[in-house]
Amino acid sequence: MSDQKFSILILAAGKATRFKSEHSKMLHRLAGRFLGEHILQAAQSAKPDCLYMVIGHEKEELRKDFARPGLVFIEQNEQLGTGHAVMMAREELEKCPSAAVLVLVGDAPLLPPETLMHLVEIHRKARAAATILTTQLDYPTGYGRIVRDRDRVRSIVEEKVATPDQKRIREINSGIICFSRTHLLKHLGELTADNAQKEFLLTDLIEIFNRHRLKVTAFPVADSREVLGANDRVELAQIERHLRLRKAVALMRQGVTVVDPQATYIDPDVEVGQDTVIEPGASLLGRTRLGRDCHVQQGCVITDSSLADRVTLRPYCVISNSEVGAGAALGPFARLRENAVIEENARIGNFVEVKKSRVGRGSKAQHLTYLGDATLGQNVNIGAGTITCNYDGVKKYPTAIEDGVFIGSGNMLVAPVRVGQGSYTAAGSTISEDVPPDSLAIARSRQVTKPGWVRERKRQRD
Ligand code: UD1
Ligand code: CA
Repeated sequence: MSDQKFSILILAAGKATRFKSEHSKMLHRLAGRFLGEHILQAAQSAKPDCLYMVIGHEKEELRKDFARPGLVFIEQNEQLGTGHAVMMAREELEKCPSAAVLVLVGDAPLLPPETLMHLVEIHRKARAAATILTTQLDYPTGYGRIVRDRDRVRSIVEEKVATPDQKRIREINSGIICFSRTHLLKHLGELTADNAQKEFLLTDLIEIFNRHRLKVTAFPVADSREVLGANDRVELAQIERHLRLRKAVALMRQGVTVVDPQATYIDPDVEVGQDTVIEPGASLLGRTRLGRDCHVQQGCVITDSSLADRVTLRPYCVISNSEVGAGAALGPFARLRENAVIEENARIGNFVEVKKSRVGRGSKAQHLTYLGDATLGQNVNIGAGTITCNYDGVKKYPTAIEDGVFIGSGNMLVAPVRVGQGSYTAAGSTISEDVPPDSLAIARSRQVTKPGWVRERKRQRD
């Protein structure tokens, strides 16, 4: 058994009681991810030899959403406390030949992997039986308090049973404890539910270790935000704010202007190029990528999409699963719904919706238009209020508009239909037949004007 080895056990079986929720806390959303995903990623980055997650409440959903190579799920079907959760892992822990077992609570999403590795290191050097990650809080209410005797920790006292004196202790248990595997397995069975909470509390092991004269130390982290727990939805919002700010700051340091970081929502995996400017109220979500020199104006929502360099999004564009080429300009109020590809220097204006369509280089659809299942060549001009009628109530059909076509205002293009290169269609046309190249198609009835008709009708009424 190498003393360099360690395993990580994440406790995630509980219900989100203080969230007043029917769902597992791990599945609540935090900064664009599942709450549980944050600690899981920190745990993975610390490169443990074995990685376990104890699940119970909504275990099938957790298995599905968190599955990944190297992660072993352990079931705790009745949630009888954090100590009981670790008991459920006994068999697995006996198999993994690691000197140390790092127990993590699932609801500490800000924890950096470096702190975990540092904790294991300190634990190893101190030759301790347990090392607790602690911090000082100005308002420690709700957390377990650290009762010390100089360097040694004597016990962890939970809020419920703390005396008024103990409640004044500001050093708290982060819920992250590094154990010597041998001692953990040896004494775990000594835990009882004979306490105020009527639960098997992992924290009671500290007193038990002391009774056996085993060494328990603490590693206090200076930045207490690292170990903040998301215990209710108010704390969740505080942590969200902190994570969002952290992402915005990272982007700003890379040369992105974030005009108002507090009012901007950027998911952790989003990438943004240099000199891009992001205005307030913008949301960049999922796997979105923005190039250089882009300008994302107020209120745009971009999900899983990529924008090349020099793209301008005027206010309130909504873009998902789509691609925008260099120099293109969209909005205000443009919508790219799914698989829209807007090529270089194209223009998509206000109240234009594009779905499963390609808009070729330099083409324009500036006002009040729907393009669905359409392929537009280069330098096409789509007149205001044009609609591709792609759906007959049963099936969807394609529309093809070749290079240099000029579609007049207010056209209905009844798919399947093709408008050949360089052609024009007259305003107000309903185009239901293919138009050959270089032609003019007029598909509307001729205007009938009856001079004096109004005057005549009035006279008849009188
Ligand atoms: C726990 C600690 C407390 C510490 C705080 C830090 C105990 C007894 N108390 O309290 O000292 O200050 O974390 O945030 O450990 N869980 C299970 N099975 C169970 C019960 C809980 O897997 O039967 C999981 C939960 O899903 C959660 C974690 O353990 O992820 C911690 O449980 P929680 O109820 O949040 O403990 P706290 O009261 O916050
Ligand atoms: Ca907690």
